[in-house]
Amino acid sequence: MNRRASLILAAAIAASPAAAWAQKFDGLAATPQMGWNSWNRFACDIDEKLIRETADAMVKTGLKDAGYQYINIDDCWHGARDEHGDIQPDPQRFPSGMKALADYVHARGLKLGIYSDVGDKTCGGRPGSRGHEYQDAKTYAAWGIDYLKYDWCESKGLSAVGAYTTMRDAIRAANRPILFSLCEWGDNKPWEWAPEVGHSWRTTGDIYPCWDCELSAGTWSRWGVMRILDMQAGLRKYAGPGHWNDMDMLEVGMGMTEDEDRSHFSIWAMLNSPLILGNDLRSMPESVKKIIGRRDVIAINQDPLGVAALRFWKQGPVELWAKPLANDEWAFMVLNRGETALPLHYDWKQNVIDDQVFKHQLDFSKATWHWTDAWTGKTGDTSRRLDATVPAHGVVLLRLKKGA
Ligand code: GLA
Repeated sequence: MNRRASLILAAAIAASPAAAWAQKFDGLAATPQMGWNSWNRFACDIDEKLIRETADAMVKTGLKDAGYQYINIDDCWHGARDEHGDIQPDPQRFPSGMKALADYVHARGLKLGIYSDVGDKTCGGRPGSRGHEYQDAKTYAAWGIDYLKYDWCESKGLSAVGAYTTMRDAIRAANRPILFSLCEWGDNKPWEWAPEVGHSWRTTGDIYPCWDCELSAGTWSRWGVMRILDMQAGLRKYAGPGHWNDMDMLEVGMGMTEDEDRSHFSIWAMLNSPLILGNDLRSMPESVKKIIGRRDVIAINQDPLGVAALRFWKQGPVELWAKPLANDEWAFMVLNRGETALPLHYDWKQNVIDDQVFKHQLDFSKATWHWTDAWTGKTGDTSRRLDATVPAHGVVLLRLKKGA
């Protein structure tokens, strides 16, 4: 392109209002977002009392101090649009309005999230944002909303890139830093285009609290934890600070066994998925609180390097995963997908871990590494074979630091 042509092009870009706003809010989700969402446990049965009590529980249980920040209202909070087309909350379920709810949540040092959809209607049949994107983003900003989950129902005929970019630009124009969470189920390979559009993108259809099942709803399915894990193949290279692969909201405390819950949480941590709790925080057993509040595991997810784990070995039901961490540390996970507990005798020198995408290497023949078990606190080092029992549907999760 000659200089004159490039000057004209530069002037055209500067003059275009879309281009002026054509960026997402940076600085959000530098590490995967952490919070809670109403859908997995409550579906449409939500109201302002539940949201207030959940915010209180987040503080009281210590989960806020562990890093959880967002209280996210999913589908079905909506009432009708008013005579100006402005969206209103359901007057029976949210009589105090969203601004009051945001104030309540903010007063506890937390942030409030909301949900909408690219189409005319949400998945739950409530008003979607199609044709109202700028108006809705402005409303959310006026209410003090901090997070938008944006769904993909009623999207026939729409371009995913176009629909999500429109809402990104609308949020930018509303001028409030709102974390933008794309919920497009991986249908149009969002990992290829969404890093510039949102802060995270769902990679799959909806999760279901089972280890390895598919629950068909006819035209679509919900997926167990192992199914979702397998759908992440090849995606780690697309994610990093400010743009994450979202493996869907957590099902810890929703019916799986304790070992399965621990594995589920460990895997989401290792793969840098957002950690959005899906259980009832107001009445959870101590065993569930211990899992979602385990700081050594959360630290693996929130590590500032922002590199997701890679699977470097697999045989039968056993998989070995490693995650490069900041300051030359690593996380290491043994996953037993099988139905029986397995004795593990691992010679550290048997594998050199070679992350060719992010250029990290770990060779245990060159140095000794100290390890701490992220779940039990037990310690050891790599000069000796690792002897452990990996429960059925269970994991062993270690953090490695150089030195004996
Ligand atoms: C879709 C989403 C879910 C949830 C529901 C709400 O299925 O993927 O996470 O938001 O819609 O209706």
